[in-house]
Amino acid sequence: MLKQKIQQLAYDFYGETIANRRYIHQHPELSFQEENTARFISQKLDEWHIQHETGLGGHGIIGLIGKPVANKKCIALRADMDALPIIETNTHEFVSKNPGVMHACGHDAHTSMLLTAARILKQIEDQLEGQIKLIFQPAEEKLPGGALGIIKAGGLKNPDVQRIVGQHVFPGLDAGFVGFRSGAYMASADEITIRIKGKGGHAAMPNQINDTVLTAAQIIVNLQQVVSRFAPPVVPTVLSFGRVIADGIFNIIPDEVLIQGTLRTFDEAWRTSAKTHIRRIAENTASAANMKAVVLIEDGYPFVMNDDHATQLAKNAAIAYLGAEKVIDLEQRMTAEDFAWYSQQIPATFYRIGTANAAKEINSNLHTSTFDIDEESLLTGSGLMAWIAVEQLKHK
Ligand code: NI
Repeated sequence: MLKQKIQQLAYDFYGETIANRRYIHQHPELSFQEENTARFISQKLDEWHIQHETGLGGHGIIGLIGKPVANKKCIALRADMDALPIIETNTHEFVSKNPGVMHACGHDAHTSMLLTAARILKQIEDQLEGQIKLIFQPAEEKLPGGALGIIKAGGLKNPDVQRIVGQHVFPGLDAGFVGFRSGAYMASADEITIRIKGKGGHAAMPNQINDTVLTAAQIIVNLQQVVSRFAPPVVPTVLSFGRVIADGIFNIIPDEVLIQGTLRTFDEAWRTSAKTHIRRIAENTASAANMKAVVLIEDGYPFVMNDDHATQLAKNAAIAYLGAEKVIDLEQRMTAEDFAWYSQQIPATFYRIGTANAAKEINSNLHTSTFDIDEESLLTGSGLMAWIAVEQLKHK
């Protein structure tokens, strides 16, 4: 049985999966700078005689396993490989050796799991009913997202990919468990910058100056209407502001105040009109106070759309591989992920690998200086990914 064979190989390669993850964890690289990580991946693929191309969309690598079979599919497996500008405060023996850079989003785990999945699939290459494309993707964490570069480099073509699968570590779930969700899963995310411009001056003479600080406050309050009044009530939407810079002092009102925030939702038409509302409300609130608001919106990732069929196949594969008690249904999330770019092009599914372990006190959130995973999740994630690929190939 192929499933047992994959489980055995995942177990045989488990030590190396951990070693690879630790090496990558110790040598994190920021988005679009993943040179050493790419070299490491390429060396491994060479070692296992897996043909691949390097330097795609930056430091991306695409490998191919299996021979083309008439009327058979090509399934892509994707892992991201970049790290974050965070100073690691973990104390284990494989902490980051690159000061100020840390794998705090588990992309080290994603890469090592895909490497092992590739090695497993290479060993059973003759039994594959089609081809597997391996996408080691750079720059997930930075706009416009490395996925776009992979797509522009033709990553989903030649051979054409019918479905794409990605997995992400999840500290909200215990190691050994996995989670799936059909439909819209993660939100689109756009970056909003508003500059309120006026003539500042002495705070004691508000009648002679423009109070940019007051107008900034009014803009933030008025923009709450975007979600509460203009958003379709059935479409989840978040508009949050995390940065307000009014660099005056007790008695000086500055000429300019900067506001930055994020818009997140699950509907492209609404996403477009939400931006119009934001612009209009900010500009008109400022003009009512005889000032100017300059609004700049940088488009981020679209929302992640999990295809029903691809997701159901992956979930069924997980139930067969791990047992139904280890497979859960995920809730929708307002976080974003550049896997969305693939999911807007072809049927896709993005699922979660549980990585928490309360007994080992492993429960820190993603993007924190103490983020860590229970490495037992690597055993689950490497074999499961290979098995999901096999099952995706087998089914229509
Ligand atoms: Ni991530």
